[in-house]
Parts: sequence; structure tokens; C-alpha cells
Amino acid sequence: MMAGAGAGVLALGACSGITLAGTSQLGPVTTLGLDARQVRLDLEGTPVETWGYNGTVPGPEIRLREGETLRVPLRNGLPDPTTVHWHGISLVNAMDGAPFLTQAPVEPGAGFDYEFVVPEAGTHWYHAHVGHQLDRGLYGALIVEPRHEELSYDREYTLLLDDWRDGLDDRPEYSAGHGGHDATDDPALPADPREWVSFGGRFYPLTLVNARPPADPYTLDVRLGERIRLRVINAAADTGFRFAIGGHRLTVTHADGMPVQHVTVDAIRIGMGERYDVLVDADAPGAWQVGVMPEGRTGYGRAILRYLDAAGSTAPPPDLHPTELDGRLLTYDDLVNTGKQETPAAGSPDRTFALTLSGTDILADGLDPTEPFFVDSGEWVRFTLRNESMKWHPMHLHGHHFRVSTPGGNGPLKDTAAVPARGGELTFDWRADNPGAWMFHCHNHYHMEDGMMRTVTYR
Ligand code: C2O
Ligand code: CU
Repeated sequence: MMAGAGAGVLALGACSGITLAGTSQLGPVTTLGLDARQVRLDLEGTPVETWGYNGTVPGPEIRLREGETLRVPLRNGLPDPTTVHWHGISLVNAMDGAPFLTQAPVEPGAGFDYEFVVPEAGTHWYHAHVGHQLDRGLYGALIVEPRHEELSYDREYTLLLDDWRDGLDDRPEYSAGHGGHDATDDPALPADPREWVSFGGRFYPLTLVNARPPADPYTLDVRLGERIRLRVINAAADTGFRFAIGGHRLTVTHADGMPVQHVTVDAIRIGMGERYDVLVDADAPGAWQVGVMPEGRTGYGRAILRYLDAAGSTAPPPDLHPTELDGRLLTYDDLVNTGKQETPAAGSPDRTFALTLSGTDILADGLDPTEPFFVDSGEWVRFTLRNESMKWHPMHLHGHHFRVSTPGGNGPLKDTAAVPARGGELTFDWRADNPGAWMFHCHNHYHMEDGMMRTVTYR
């Protein structure tokens, strides 16, 4: 088995960018131009006009090493203003791509040069951050490799999951097949709120994996005996997914790019904006469903895991439900941080914000609805979240990782964490170590655009 980084970076089918290496006093610089413009996709025979980067969906996968500098000249070939946000990177505030907060949106025909150091390794991603642009194809993976890889694996694949409606709004027949009915109207709510999982309420005809529909699935080729690393990223606007692979278990190694104690499960639940890295042992020859089930909705997305040595095996049908989807499901309580061990002095934070999610509002005890959350550099900040609404909300803090509180103590470092619906609670702590003005918002795009966003401002 080969050692990790760079070993077997295969089949990155969506990758089309050219990266140029150079050097400066900031260390090695990787330059990749992003050209935001119209793209045409073919989805199960329907030509779809959408927006993407460099003529592909997903946009080019960007790869560099921790501590290096990324330089991205952006050109806006869209009819609307845009920005790019580097989700999961603790970067310098001015490069965060938060419209009207860290920069003015880039006008059509204009450009903007992003340049920043990437301090930490991990599976991250980039996406447009103006209006509903992310709901089109304006996203891609941003993989930061560690200086010393500790995982050992033979191949890796990046899987970007997406709910899709662009160009399909007049195709109701999709709803009969692998459609995206919202189950919110279901009169028979499960008694246990934890069983009630819905991240959004829109109709989405398709679930895509690397922009491929169920009828034309993305394929992961493996050989018997190999160990595969998957980097799973939820780029959807309105959909949380359950993810599992028929005939295989998943060993989770990273949550939102940060290392955790390895834990083996049957399935993971991944909210919008979240990422999980998993290892899969290829020990069951055949062709298997990589099942991507929209939580709270009907229908499936999928990819195919195909053993090269088992050429005769045929792909499972698009509606096959791998039993693993109903097996042991990863929860945040299963995750133990093995990275940075910093903790608040005496275990207690310097400042606490008590937050209630209500409808699409983030209400803070003692603050006006539009008031920023002021923090001082260096202090430990605690957010306590209580979700009074009927949807799960994946809440994302820009520019920082936070530590989710779990009963076991040493919870995972994340930048996006879903708060369960109907009274669900979540607490996390983070160190105010990256000055600026940062967004804190729900990663459901409709919720964010409806105002489910607050600002964290360093005094
Ligand atoms: Cu990935 Cu402000 O978001
Ligand atoms: Cu939300």
C-alpha cells in the first residue's frame, strides 16, 4: 500500500484547471484562474444551461499543500455580480468573499484577485456567495494536503453532492422517478424528533454526484484489496443527504477537514456545507450502489463503486436502496478530535452567545436582531444553539473552526454543524484568533437569503 498524499489521485473527471507553481516570500504559490460563466450540462438527455467555473461543473479541483499561498484571479463572465468564498479556510478576512462585508461583489465583466495563505490541511471547497448562485454549478473542491500525510490509501475520489433544479423546473416527470418531494407535509411525523430530518422544503428533481445524474452515474473504479479515500462534500442548497455504500462500511477520518479518531459506521449524514473524509476497504468484488439519499425526501442520487477485477458485474438499478443507509449512522457524539488540542482555560469560555433558531431567524439573547456579535481577539467564545423550527439548520461560521460539545468531551473541530429540528440543541466553542468581520449563517441558501445570517465582528 502506498503512503497517502498524492498516491493514486485518479479519475478526477471534473478537473480541468491548469495550476502553475511559483515561489514568493510567502512560500510556494499556486495560481489558478477561475472564469465564472455560462455552462451547458446534459442531464439525462435534457440540455441544461447553468453557471459554472471554467466551463465545468463542478469547477476545477484546487489542490495545494498547507502553508502555501493560493492565488486566484477571478473573471466574472456572468450577467450578475459575484464573489467566491473559500469554505473551511481560516484565511485573512479581506479574501473571504463575503459580499458587502469583506468586499463589494465583482461586477459583470470585471475581475478580482484572491490571494491568501492556506494555514491548515483538509477537505474544503469554494463557491459563489451572492444570492442563489451556489444553487447553480458555481462550486468546486479545495483540497489542502498536509505536509506529512498520516493516512495510508491506494486511491482517492472527491464526491460533490448536489440537489439540482436548474433547467429542470418544467420536468415534473422527474418527481415520479428519482425526484425530490419534500416530506414536510407528511401528516405522520415520527414521534422522536431525532427521526424527523428535513433540511429544506423546495422541490428538487435530481440529486447529482459530481454533476452526474442517477441514469448516467459517476463511477469509482477500485481493485480488490485496495483502500480508498473518499472526500465527501455537500454542495447542495436545500438538501441534507444520507450517504452509504452497498456492501461496504465507512471509516470516518476527518470531519470538515479536521482529523478525528477513526470510527467505522454504515452511513453518514451530511448537511449542506459539511465534509467528511472516509476510508473504504475494497474487499467485496462486484458493482455497488454509492447511495445518496436526500433526508426527508423521496428519491436518490448515486455513484457506482466498480471493481475492475470483476468485469462481469452489472451496475445496480438507480432506485436501489443500500441496506447500509439504514444501518449504524454517524453522529457528532461519535467524533473525537485528534488535531489541535487547545481548550478554554478552566474549561469555561470568556463570552457566551445564547442563540435561538426560529423560522429563518437567528435570535441572540440580549441583542437586537441586526446587531453584530462583538468579540475580542484572543478570547474563547461559546455559541449555544437551540432550534425551535421544523427544519434542521447546518450553521456555518466563516474563518474559524469551532469545537462541538459532545458528552465524551473532546468533540470534533468543525466549521459547519447541523442543529436538529424541533428543540434540537448544539453547543460549540471557538477561539477568536482571526480578526475581521465574519459571517455566521445557515447553509440552506433559501434560509440565508431570507436573513438567517449574523455577523461576528472583532472589536
Ligand atoms: Cu459555504 Cu458563507 O458559506
Ligand atoms: Cu437553515
